[in-house]
Amino acid sequence: MTALISLDLAEWREWASAETQDLAVKTIEGGGVLILPRLAFILMGSERRFLSAQWSDDKAKNISFDGRTLKGARGSVSDLTDLSRMVSRFAQCAADLVSALFPRYAPFVLSARTSFRPQPAVGRAVSWRKDDSRLHIDAFPSRPNRGERILRVFSNVSPDEDRVWRVGDRFEAVARKFLPRIGRQLPGSARLLATLRVTKGLRSEYDHLMLALHDRAKADLDYQKSCPQQVVRFPPGSTWLCFSDQVMHAAVSGQYMFEQTIHLPVSALYDPSSSPLATLERLRGKPLL
Ligand code: SIN
Ligand code: FE
Repeated sequence: MTALISLDLAEWREWASAETQDLAVKTIEGGGVLILPRLAFILMGSERRFLSAQWSDDKAKNISFDGRTLKGARGSVSDLTDLSRMVSRFAQCAADLVSALFPRYAPFVLSARTSFRPQPAVGRAVSWRKDDSRLHIDAFPSRPNRGERILRVFSNVSPDEDRVWRVGDRFEAVARKFLPRIGRQLPGSARLLATLRVTKGLRSEYDHLMLALHDRAKADLDYQKSCPQQVVRFPPGSTWLCFSDQVMHAAVSGQYMFEQTIHLPVSALYDPSSSPLATLERLRGKPLL
């Protein structure tokens, strides 16, 4: 079963002892979820107005900020400035937290996108492939990452509603189940997809397998129902983090969450042999990059 480990931190910039760091590293690199039940992202008075789905522009599910441009939001210039400021503040909090718990990751903490999710976690009409209420590992068709890790920090800012997830089986068990049914990447397909700009860069064999794992698991309704899984509730005012390319997760319910993505090269891990890349290479018996 996927490990769920809680830590009693209450400050984003808290100093973490060597034992705390060690537990945090073993938890997330081992494919578990690290939960900080008392670590809240507090909205400032005027930011509470952003707890409404009306700030989404209807096209995108999330409001996102890359440090420069705010996407997916609507409002006046001053609203959008305040929204950007709030999302940046969360990015800084998440960066401080990750740097304190995982010093080796510190150089990478501010490199990726931050999102504010004012929409209900489930309920939008989407295709099965985009349906995040089905258990999945994160893998994105247009963004090959060649083994780079996807670390995500989440914080529930709802005043009254838990964010609820299902968390599934361990990565290796999922890979063992679905890998035998996944065929090889078609020769020449990676170059074709990149040339047609379907993908940003070349899709490696690793990316091919991760996408197939994502798709096969979501498409298999029997598996969705009967695989080992647990329901996890993240209450208002809590924060949690995991490698979402490794933890099988599915949204069940909730509204109003922040999420920070951090991309990490495998070489930044404390134990690269625990990565999906190393696991898939072991199971396939060959290099995948
Ligand atoms: C996901 O990241 O797949 C969904 C998580 C959520 O909306 O809580
Ligand atoms: Fe996901």
